[in-house]
Amino acid sequence: MKLEGRVALVTGASQGIGHACARALAREGASVALAARNQQKLDQLVAEITAAGGKAAAFVIDVSDEEQVKSGVKSALAQFGKIDILVNNAGITRDQLLLRMKRADWDAVLATNLTSAYLCIQQVIGSMLKQRWGRIINVASVFGQMGQAGQANYSASKAGLIGLTMAMAREVASRHITCNAVAPGFIETGMTAVLSEEFKQNAVKQIPLGRVGLPEDVASAVCFLASDDASYITGHVLNVNGGMLMG
Ligand code: NAI
Repeated sequence: MKLEGRVALVTGASQGIGHACARALAREGASVALAARNQQKLDQLVAEITAAGGKAAAFVIDVSDEEQVKSGVKSALAQFGKIDILVNNAGITRDQLLLRMKRADWDAVLATNLTSAYLCIQQVIGSMLKQRWGRIINVASVFGQMGQAGQANYSASKAGLIGLTMAMAREVASRHITCNAVAPGFIETGMTAVLSEEFKQNAVKQIPLGRVGLPEDVASAVCFLASDDASYITGHVLNVNGGMLMG
């Protein structure tokens, strides 16, 4: 187990990619602080991880709310004593052509996908600096790298996360804290379940590996970046996209 003794905080852990990351990190021996808005779903995951012999606790946090991030992370630090690994995964879409995009939908996506990462990093970085070890992993997107029509807010938030990743990597590198991003392509989760069958079939045609990704594909990349195996990697964007974007 590569993460024995580590404590990880995963946002958006109630379903999809965050859920898979939390399970994978726990399987590697990390204690996991699970953050999301739905207490019931988080409790189910705590029960599952605990039943498998792992350690987990639920923290109800709306990551777009600064006060909830502050108090929730404080509770996690009080319970586990430290946070070694932060996975900024919570994210939403509010798709619309920019011409018609409501300001509220722009703001909600930026707050949930990007500002939340700034807030969470600020709350956990003290613990990492104290230990002179840490892993910050931001879940970006292929659309933050190449853009997507109808997703100007989402693409901007994910491109912003990539900039944040590189800036943060430079700020904390001297303390053995790495900051990386994963950029998933098309992953089968609640976020993509709403897309039409036709859209999905067309999307698969753009993927050299010929299939959509699974949350576990992203979780494996996150576990690698969290481990000591990735100690010389920082400021990097790891594509988990089946070859959808190369270069
Ligand atoms: P999902 O919709 O299944 O899960 C999103 C998670 O974020 C849920 O646990 C949800 O409760 C949580 N969340 C949303 N708003 C929140 C808030 N204000 N406070 C706390 N938690 C909140 O979606 P999925 O696919 O698992 O997405 C996870 C991350 O992966 C997102 O950042 C998404 O942008 C990113 N991603 C997903 C891709 C896909 O194809 N599914 C592709 C590229 C990136």
